[in-house]
Amino acid sequence: MTTDPSTDERPTIHKGLAGVVVDTTAISSIDRATNTLLYRGYPAPDLAARCRFEQVAYLLWNGELPSDDELEDFEHSERSERALPDPVIAAIMAMPHSAHPMDVLRTAVSVTGAFDAGSNDLSREAELARSVRLLAQLPAMVALDQRRRHGEKLVAPRDDLGYADNFLHMTFGSVPDAEVVRAFEISMVLYAEHSFNASTFTARVIASTLSDLYSAVTGAIGALKGPLHGGANETVLATLVEIGTPDRVDQWLTDTLARKAKVMGFGHRVYRDGDSRVPTMKSALDGLVAHFGRQDLSELANTLEAAMLARTGIRPNLDYPTGPAYHLMGFDTPTFTPLFAASRVVGWTAHVMEQRAANSLIRPLSRYDGPARRGVPGA
Ligand code: COA
Repeated sequence: MTTDPSTDERPTIHKGLAGVVVDTTAISSIDRATNTLLYRGYPAPDLAARCRFEQVAYLLWNGELPSDDELEDFEHSERSERALPDPVIAAIMAMPHSAHPMDVLRTAVSVTGAFDAGSNDLSREAELARSVRLLAQLPAMVALDQRRRHGEKLVAPRDDLGYADNFLHMTFGSVPDAEVVRAFEISMVLYAEHSFNASTFTARVIASTLSDLYSAVTGAIGALKGPLHGGANETVLATLVEIGTPDRVDQWLTDTLARKAKVMGFGHRVYRDGDSRVPTMKSALDGLVAHFGRQDLSELANTLEAAMLARTGIRPNLDYPTGPAYHLMGFDTPTFTPLFAASRVVGWTAHVMEQRAANSLIRPLSRYDGPARRGVPGA
């Protein structure tokens, strides 16, 4: 009997780790009976409908929703951490305008880590304080990057505003109508956590080496950038722009599927019958469409969704409604994935803390299929 499965003639290979249960988690799950994403047992769509983003962040980190006093303390800490340190502002301003905003965000988080002299303190208390700081500062990084690319000046955070209002204030220089803020907050709640997705798993792998939290978040941002993960919300908008009008959907889809190309914003590794977050975000998008009078956009998106379902049986994921929603709110298309990151940093850091609490180095095996042992020429 072999003790090393990688030396088996035919070990079972789990390509993409599909179907592999790597560890336990108490942070989120999917209720298989209803296909619903649960954060600490609460349905994420219900949290999105009833809670503010700050309450959900507290829940994901601490296991329970905050009492009024706990929320007040938590908000106080978050609001007091919002201003970016000068070196981080300088690092963002030094990036070329051609840099993708995810590259800028990744760099800004890395710089933040380099200035935290205590980043090797891996205690839960220190990690939680650091997580609050990242939650508070990622919006300022994302907002500043969009503004500088438009030739606009930094807008300082306001500590009299909630997370979502302040995020939009820092990006656009004013707080938009309540309906727009609410749609934005719903997207933030729905993006906050999704168990062992690729970027969260990346964060856990990095944390499992006992590396620091900033390294884990920097790596997670890199994983989220790819179009098979967070980058899909940007590509959804590019797709809709490329198609242009509903009458062109059929031909576009025929050509795309014939090339065996993926239609971004559709399909999901863990949901085969639809993503439970979509209806909540779709109704927020419908509100924005009515608010901005952009029925043309929803007509196009709905036509593609119906055609995709009829041809492939594949349904949209959360990136499908968030792409058009962020566009209507006024965000640049390349800023969409950083918005996802600003929310998912809650999930990443919750998982890093969970990983630390019962750590085991994550180090899988592989089956070698390269050349057999051979001599180095001249040896
Ligand atoms: N467009 C077209 N076909 C798709 C598709 C999509 N978006 N998603 C899945 N499929 C098809 C695949 O081509 C494959 O068909 P085949 O069996 O004939 O080869 C089948 O459905 C299974 O897809 P697969 O890619 O193996 O499933 P997965 O679990 O590995 O992939 C995703 C999940 C998310 C990577 C995949 O659905 C995808 O690439 N979607 C687009 C990117 C996206 O929106 N990502 C955000 C995820 S939240």
